[in-house]
Amino acid sequence: MPKFSKQFSTLPPYALADVPKIKAELIERGVDVIDLGAGDADQMPPPQAIAAIQAAVTEERYSRYPFQRGLPEFRKKVAEWMKVRFGFEVDPFEEVLPLIGTKEGIAHLPLIYLDPGDAAIIPDPGYYPYFGGTHMLGADVVQVPLRREKGYLLDWSEVPADKLRKAKLLYLNYPNNPTGGVATEEYLREALEFCRQHGLLLVHDNAYSEIAFDGYRPPSVLQFEGAKEIAVEYQSLSKTFNMTGWRIGWVAGHKETVQALSKVKTYYDTGVFLACQAAGVAALDAWSEFAPKNAAIFEKRRDAAVEAFREAGFEVDKPKATLYLWIPIPSGEPSVEFARRILLESGVVLFPGVGMGEGGEGFFRVALTQPAERLEEAAKRVAKVL
Ligand SMILES: Cc1ncc(COP(=O)(O)O)c(C=O)c1O
Repeated sequence: MPKFSKQFSTLPPYALADVPKIKAELIERGVDVIDLGAGDADQMPPPQAIAAIQAAVTEERYSRYPFQRGLPEFRKKVAEWMKVRFGFEVDPFEEVLPLIGTKEGIAHLPLIYLDPGDAAIIPDPGYYPYFGGTHMLGADVVQVPLRREKGYLLDWSEVPADKLRKAKLLYLNYPNNPTGGVATEEYLREALEFCRQHGLLLVHDNAYSEIAFDGYRPPSVLQFEGAKEIAVEYQSLSKTFNMTGWRIGWVAGHKETVQALSKVKTYYDTGVFLACQAAGVAALDAWSEFAPKNAAIFEKRRDAAVEAFREAGFEVDKPKATLYLWIPIPSGEPSVEFARRILLESGVVLFPGVGMGEGGEGFFRVALTQPAERLEEAAKRVAKVL
């Protein structure tokens, strides 16, 4: 057999690789496992989206190949939503591209920009496709720490000058997974200016823009003047509408990038299931009614979980957005060992911070994907182990 490629062989192992096995064994032994590991909400999608996909699957035209163009109504609805939500205009056919979940679009983007020797700047900790997409091409992954004392805002003055010279992409993600950090409009403007000065494409991942609390409304990087000349933004239906398994999102912004990604994707996939795009139209139509109620569910859980983990003795920041609490491990124990010990001794699945990069070491992440009582119960069990 041939050997695996160098890039594949140097992909770091997935931090939670043995969790499903341990979890299954615990469940078999009768343990009541509370899984707070993945950001996979337990709530239902909008009923309108469910009705739309049910109707669509009965029609022959929705069973065809979608191709990259997909359903024109979905593209138009996306453009309309971005105008209503953030106040900017995009051309639905030239500046929007449907994606099979934003993850694939994020991971494929470096294909159109990076050669070996080039670099992408990514947050550390950060959502792992930023790393994977760049690493697999043999390009340089420049991981810049997100520090608690800086509100988890990536500080570009920490990018080494020699790396900056080779960089073509800057990935940012606010509201941020896993830290819960949020960006001000001023920060995003500065990010655009930094990218303009250094000839970078700003790649903003805005997957959590609709999971925000206390009246906070996350901005889009595309709402600023001139942003479309140097930025793209990813949006997902996964978190906004509890549609993680449906695999639908989009990228919008810089025309040449969107079109190049569309071209490269023709070699990798044949588009998002059309019935799912029809459901996406219905979901976006239901957004103004659905999204605030959905965010309110997570806000209540956030409040309950913050209080419960504080009572359990942890130092917990109250995030203004996202589905996560990001909590320092008081003992200084490595995060994978900590998470494994907690799982084995309490049946609670936590995400070890290092799973999202070395910068996440010393932290664990709690996903607000269970009802408040379960989050409280989890905090109590964790406290007992410690
Ligand atoms: C920061 C971030 N971006 C994007 C995504 C992926 O969303 P999708 O389900 O659209 O691939 C996630 C999912 O966890 C995420 O945390």
